[in-house]
Amino acid sequence: MPSISTPNRYGTETLSAEDQALLSEPLTLPFSGKVIKNRFCKAALSENLGRKDGQLDKSNLDRLVNVYNAWAEGGSGMILTGNVMVDRTMREMELNVAVEDERDIGRLKVWAQAVQKHGEFKGLILDHARGTPSTPMNICSCADQILDG
Ligand SMILES: Cc1cc2nc3c(=O)[nH]c(=O)nc-3n(C[C@H](O)[C@H](O)[C@H](O)COP(=O)(O)O)c2cc1C
Repeated sequence: MPSISTPNRYGTETLSAEDQALLSEPLTLPFSGKVIKNRFCKAALSENLGRKDGQLDKSNLDRLVNVYNAWAEGGSGMILTGNVMVDRTMREMELNVAVEDERDIGRLKVWAQAVQKHGEFKGLILDHARGTPSTPMNICSCADQILDG
């Protein structure tokens, strides 16, 4: 296996053969028991591919499926989405996807399948724009961290 150098900000040491081998090992998530096929993860990215009102329509879905399909083909074990807001009126970016009720469940499934057909695990990041330290009213968050201030 060729040696891998980490980016400068993490130091320039070469990963040991043992660490490199670990990257292709599966990982079991502690709560769900789901098995991630390797240690590579596509980080969350605000795709900004939703409709102006936050609803997922066919053309938005087609674009999301297209890009997630390409990311999944890359082989990462885990693919994290950008913000999926739980309140259409409180979005982090104008074109965030928003899911408030069962209206979009069918389309969310199609979106998930774009990734799962490659054997990847897709993590949906549910978010609420009010859950930020600068606007500490009606905080609603999926994070387990308590924010001070
Ligand atoms: C919901 C969500 C959306 C994000 N959107 C972006 C984004 O649009 N662009 C970006 O550079 N990072 C975004 N991030 C942060 C990246 O996922 C990542 O954590 C960050 O770039 C740090 O990665 P690094 O530690 O590899 O440098 C987002 C994070 C979350 C949780």
